[in-house]
Amino acid sequence: MKFSIRCLALLTLLWLPTVQRSLAETAKPMEKKAFGTTPDGKTADLYILKNKNGMEVSITNYGGIVTSIKVPDRSGKMADVLLGHDTLEGYIADKVYFGATVGRYCNRIGHAEFSIDGTKYTLAKNNGDNTLHGGIKGFNKALWEAKDVSKGGEPALELTYVSKDGEEGFPGNLTATVVYMLTSRNELKIDYSATTDKKTVVNLTNHSYFNLAGQGTGDILKTVLRIEADKITPVDSGLIPTGELKSVQGTPFDFRKPTAIGERINADDEQLKLGKGYDHNFVLIKNRPNGLTLAARAEEPASGRVLEVWTTEPGIQLYTGNFLDGSIHGKGGIAYSQRTAFCLETQHFPDSPNHPNFPSTLLTPRQRYHTTTIYKFSTK
Ligand code: GLA
Repeated sequence: MKFSIRCLALLTLLWLPTVQRSLAETAKPMEKKAFGTTPDGKTADLYILKNKNGMEVSITNYGGIVTSIKVPDRSGKMADVLLGHDTLEGYIADKVYFGATVGRYCNRIGHAEFSIDGTKYTLAKNNGDNTLHGGIKGFNKALWEAKDVSKGGEPALELTYVSKDGEEGFPGNLTATVVYMLTSRNELKIDYSATTDKKTVVNLTNHSYFNLAGQGTGDILKTVLRIEADKITPVDSGLIPTGELKSVQGTPFDFRKPTAIGERINADDEQLKLGKGYDHNFVLIKNRPNGLTLAARAEEPASGRVLEVWTTEPGIQLYTGNFLDGSIHGKGGIAYSQRTAFCLETQHFPDSPNHPNFPSTLLTPRQRYHTTTIYKFSTK
């Protein structure tokens, strides 16, 4: 009797991992559920991507918005590290681009105009005299076509949006595709591509607001940041680049050595005053143009959560939630006040169409736009 009980226990022990493995293999890496109805009566869905480590990323095809990223801290405790909303209605009303896919041209275009081959294009103005993040109805307010493109147990979601010739003033029918993949190395890998039937300008990014201690837990001033950049593109009072590339040496913009975001944010610095904090494009150090390189690393000392941003882009916008003022109530009804999140928006430089000395954002019908950005999570 004793023998057979022992035997049974042993068999169960041997058998358990097999069951766990086969459960993990059959568990769906991506779940889909209805998220709500858009203003024009269409259904928006929410896709939940999970990896084998328990990391979870939720994305809606409304605006290509990443609604949450749940990752463990150093003791394994999970938290959602993105600011945002619980409902689709929150995102429909959103004006600050929480988690959004931003296009056709992220960041600003000065005086809402640019020219290609001598033809002038006038865009929608939605930020003073300028165009911000694609105009009045940018890609963040579009309903994207979704497709499950998961591969080898790694969940992946492909979103496609066709932006019509003339939309918000931009020339050419542009087909934009964004693939979000959650890897088993706790990376959210985002691949952007686009094609056009007329010369146009393209600059796509993701506008996630991170708080590595967990959304709604306070400010991000103690988060220690490193940015692989030796220059910024300084701005004027409308936050439009002056065209200069300015060295970070000896300024509050030198993040080549890891420094807490809050350490110099209130320094007596003209650029910081113009941005009400950090709201600037950093020129990344690239040994290979278009190579996938580490752009930034953020470490939250209390939780130990670490975020690395890798990108093929030449620039990254550090925005420290300067315009959040407590008036937006997000997830769980929490009022988001100033500097309770930071954004690291990988990009070509703002207003590039009006600065021939900046890397070009022109896309012709013969070319294919393709960029990659990886948000990699770990702990220390
Ligand atoms: C960007 C801009 C900021 C601000 C936010 C959205 O990061 O650079 O100035 O407009 O988006 O609120």
